[in-house]
Amino acid sequence: MKIMIRLENINLALGGAEILKNVSFHIRRGETGVVLGASGSGKTTALRLILGLLKPDSGRVFVDGEDITDFSEEDLLRVRAKMGMVFQAGALFDSMTVGENVAYRLMEKGGFRMEEIEEKVRGSLRFVGLEDSIDQMPAELSGGMKKRVAIARGIAASPAIMLYDEPTAGLDPLNSHNISNLITRLKEEQGVTSVVVTHDIPLAFDVADYTAFLHEGEVCYVGGADGLLASGDGCVREFINHSGRADAGGPRAGFINGGAG
Ligand SMILES: Nc1ncnc2c1ncn2[C@@H]1O[C@H](COP(=O)(O)OP(=O)(O)OP(=O)(O)O)[C@@H](O)[C@H]1O
Ligand SMILES: [Mg+2]
Repeated sequence: MKIMIRLENINLALGGAEILKNVSFHIRRGETGVVLGASGSGKTTALRLILGLLKPDSGRVFVDGEDITDFSEEDLLRVRAKMGMVFQAGALFDSMTVGENVAYRLMEKGGFRMEEIEEKVRGSLRFVGLEDSIDQMPAELSGGMKKRVAIARGIAASPAIMLYDEPTAGLDPLNSHNISNLITRLKEEQGVTSVVVTHDIPLAFDVADYTAFLHEGEVCYVGGADGLLASGDGCVREFINHSGRADAGGPRAGFINGGAG
């Protein structure tokens, strides 16, 4: 299967500190890759590299067969058009309705007829189960609903790649489970390739075809989510042992049920 996203031997310093150190991982087309790690380990930074918002000091970034490392802003815009993004902070526009929020990228992109936009917006909201909320304001929604609207906005332009930054942050186990279902359905129904950045281990177990574990800017595990539990690596073990949700039902039960059972 073809590689969709590859980070190759990435080194990056910001503000005098080494943030990513010789980081390599890849995600195959149509699969979901999860980048796991504690706060400050460099997860969001890795996403910014994939979006071309940051350039590495050394190493290469590949997206859909192209080496984007030295791309111009114009070429990066073309690459970013293949991606939908769900930001860490959710970031809906509070003064716009749910429908307008979801339409935003399509309007910005231009070239769509109003009926087309309406159809795509309704389709995206239907996919996340919120078509009835199209005329509501973000302030009227729960945190879980806002996250689903953010996903609807991300998928409205039918991107081949979805990037998620902490999509379950602040959500209860049931809402978290709803989000992981959406990520999985996008893969199964539309063949979307996803990169999920998170410290939520149950989410990783729910969605990951492949995980890369970051610790202080270094990759200390790559492989299937199941292998995390068996990993002898000290930093992986420490992270797993301190995961609150995992502790709740004994390590394995908690992980496999996604904390929602
Ligand atoms: N522009 C910047 N200048 C200086 N340091 C930065 C910059 N951006 C990020 N950092 C530092 O890089 C490290 C990694 O940040 P990053 O946001 O990638 O972590 P993260 O894994 O996403 O954390 P979290 O789980 O809290 O979101 C942190 O120590 C952060 O302070
Ligand atoms: Mg982050």
